Amino acid sequence: MPAISLPRHNTFPEAEWRALARHWYPIAYSDELDAGKPLARTLLDEPLIAYRTTGRQVVVARDLCIHRGVPLRHGWQEGDELVCAYHGFRYGADGRCTAIPAQPDLPVPKKLCLSTVASIERLGLVWVCLDPAADTAPALPDWPELSDPAYRMMHDPPPEWDCTPGRQLENFIDVGHFSWIHVGTFGNRAQPEVAPYDVVKTPGGFRVAYPYLAANPDATATGFSGSSTIQRWMTYDLHLPLACRLVVEYEGGKRHCIFDAPTPVSRRKTRIFFFIARNYDHHVPAEDLLAWERKILAEDKPIVESQRPEDLPVDLSEEFHIRSDRFSVAFRTALRDLGLGPAYSA
Ligand code: FES
Ligand SMILES: [Fe+2]
Repeated sequence: MPAISLPRHNTFPEAEWRALARHWYPIAYSDELDAGKPLARTLLDEPLIAYRTTGRQVVVARDLCIHRGVPLRHGWQEGDELVCAYHGFRYGADGRCTAIPAQPDLPVPKKLCLSTVASIERLGLVWVCLDPAADTAPALPDWPELSDPAYRMMHDPPPEWDCTPGRQLENFIDVGHFSWIHVGTFGNRAQPEVAPYDVVKTPGGFRVAYPYLAANPDATATGFSGSSTIQRWMTYDLHLPLACRLVVEYEGGKRHCIFDAPTPVSRRKTRIFFFIARNYDHHVPAEDLLAWERKILAEDKPIVESQRPEDLPVDLSEEFHIRSDRFSVAFRTALRDLGLGPAYSA
């Protein structure tokens, strides 16, 4: 098969782009496509257009009408078709042009076709791979809470940060920073020491269990009032290369799950699919719980966006590691082994 061509305005070195393009990333939450309007998103510098057909199929294509090179984001959806804003060419769910209004008797040539890309809707997300392996099933994470009616999934629109996904995901799995930058939310400054923990290999990545005596300034956020601290039993399941579920368990089997899947938009821009699901307190408005998570993310954002080098160094000699960094060392090593080393080293 010929090598896939790079986006016109690609900001990545070619080898880095090709290595990243073989993996699956979320580009949208499923419900972002429910409005019957096409959604424009960018993955690895490739502008994409996504929409849902009346039969609920998700279609994702490169965002370009090949008549005169106009992005379809200027157009609209009619039934199962996209209509280009410039001259009204219409495109069906398979990408094929179905109508040329200015010359209705012209048989539509086969090559007049949008360039569709591989997509899968799963776990409440639309996942895309620009260069999927022809013979292997996509390795997507297994997050059973998202199909369990006992859990309520909640999310904000996915924000874009000025950082690389490697730095952002490493921040998500970093157990050593809670007691420092998160003292405005759950961080407990009286608990700076990080106890030793194990990094366990799993089929998709790594699992780490880590207990933390967190601050508890907001009873709505945790569901527990009357105590200034609260015991969290935290279990991370990292799914390589760039997705992680964190189960925060409190007393009595109350589970608050946090999911993080950063998507590379361009070399220095990342769209963050950060969402939650919990199995209790369904009477609390989602907005209150999401406001709490936004506050936590706001504590992380300036730190992550200012890290240098921007790319996560997978050469372990480049930064200094302590015992509490065992998880991130495993993550960096795994990225390097996946051939993503050049992608994340300066
Ligand atoms: S550019 Fe799309 S119809 Fe002409
Ligand atoms: Fe954090």
